[in-house]
Amino acid sequence: MTNEYILAIETSCDETAAAIIRDGKTIVSNIVASQMDSHSRFGGVVPEVASRHHVEQVTMVIQQALEEAQVTPKQLTAVAVTEGPGLVGALLVGIQAAKTFAFCHQLPLINVHHIAGHIYAAQLSEPLTFPLIALIVSGGHTELIYMKEHGSFETIGQTRDDAAGEAYDKVARVVGLPYPGGPEIDRLAAVGEANIPLPRAWLEEGSLDFSFSGLKSAVLNAWHNAKQRGETIDAADMAASFQASVIEVIVAKTKEAVKQTNARQLIVAGGVASNKGLRAAIQSEFNQSEVVVTIPPSAFCTDNAAMIGAAASMAWARGIRAPLSLNARPSYPL
Ligand code: KG4
Ligand code: ZN
Repeated sequence: MTNEYILAIETSCDETAAAIIRDGKTIVSNIVASQMDSHSRFGGVVPEVASRHHVEQVTMVIQQALEEAQVTPKQLTAVAVTEGPGLVGALLVGIQAAKTFAFCHQLPLINVHHIAGHIYAAQLSEPLTFPLIALIVSGGHTELIYMKEHGSFETIGQTRDDAAGEAYDKVARVVGLPYPGGPEIDRLAAVGEANIPLPRAWLEEGSLDFSFSGLKSAVLNAWHNAKQRGETIDAADMAASFQASVIEVIVAKTKEAVKQTNARQLIVAGGVASNKGLRAAIQSEFNQSEVVVTIPPSAFCTDNAAMIGAAASMAWARGIRAPLSLNARPSYPL
C-alpha cells in the first residue's frame, strides 16, 4: 500500500471526531471535539444534547482534519464512518456528513463497526499478530474477542449486565465524584487502600463472561450502611477496593482467554483501557510470557476517528464498500 488516504468520521457517542489515516497505520491528522463539559452536569451523556453538538461540530472537525493533514479531497482514497453501535441520533450525524462528503467528491464510502475501530487502534502502534485476543472495556462494552485473521471477530466473553466503564461511572456517582467517573476513580484508587471487602464476579467455572452489577450494589450497600451507622468510608479506599475487584477479574479472565485460544497478541482497548491500574496489572501479568501486549496510548483508547480509519483501511483491502443508502445501526453485533 502506498499513499492510501482515508478520511474517517466518528460520532457514535459524545466525541465528534475526524482523522486522516495513511496506509492504515499512520495518523496524518486526528481531531476530537469533546462534549464532556455539556454532559457532565447531567451526570451522563444526554442523547439529544449529543446529536445537537455533533451537528454543530462535524463540518468544522472534518475541515480541520483535512487542513492539518494538508490533504485535499482529490487525494483521498475513501471516506469511512462509524455505522454503529452507538446513539442513533449521534451516529446519523456522522453518517450523513460522510455520505454527503463522499457524494460531493465522488469517493467510495466504507462502513466501520465501532468496536472493530477500538481493536484496530492497536494497529496505529504496531502490526496485528494472529491469532489475537482483544479485551474491549468501555462505557458501553466489556468483551473478549477472538480474531484468527483480519476482519474475523468472535465474541468469546461479554458482560451479562453493566459494562466496566458504566460500573466505574455509577460507583463514582455513589461516592460523590463527577462524571465521567472512570478517570476520577483511577486517580483516587492510586492513593487509597483496597481494604473494603467486595465480591469478585467469577461466574461459572471457566466462564469468560463478566458481571459488574453485583459489585456495584455491594459498593452502594457498604457506602449507605456506613452512613446509616454514622460512619464514613474514605472515598479513596472505596475507589481502590472497587478497582481491585474489577482488575482482578478482568485480568484473570483475559489470561484464561489467551490460554484457551493460544493467542499471540493481546490488545486492550476502549475507554477503561486508559486506567492506570488495569494497564499496569495486564503488563505485569504478561511480562514473562511471549504474548505481545498492545495497549494504545490513552488518547486512542477513548473514542476517536483515527481508530475508525485504521479499521477502514483493512475493510477497504477486503473489498468492503457501503452504499449511499447507509443507515445507522444503534445495536450492531460485531
Ligand atoms: O470508549 P469510550 O471513550 O466510550 C465508549 O465507547 O463507551 O469509554 C468511556 C468510558 C467511560 O465510562 C469512562 O468513565 C471510562 O471509559 N474511562 C475510564 C478511564 N478513562 C475513561 N475508566 C476507568 N479508568 C480510566 N482512567
Ligand atoms: Zn468507544
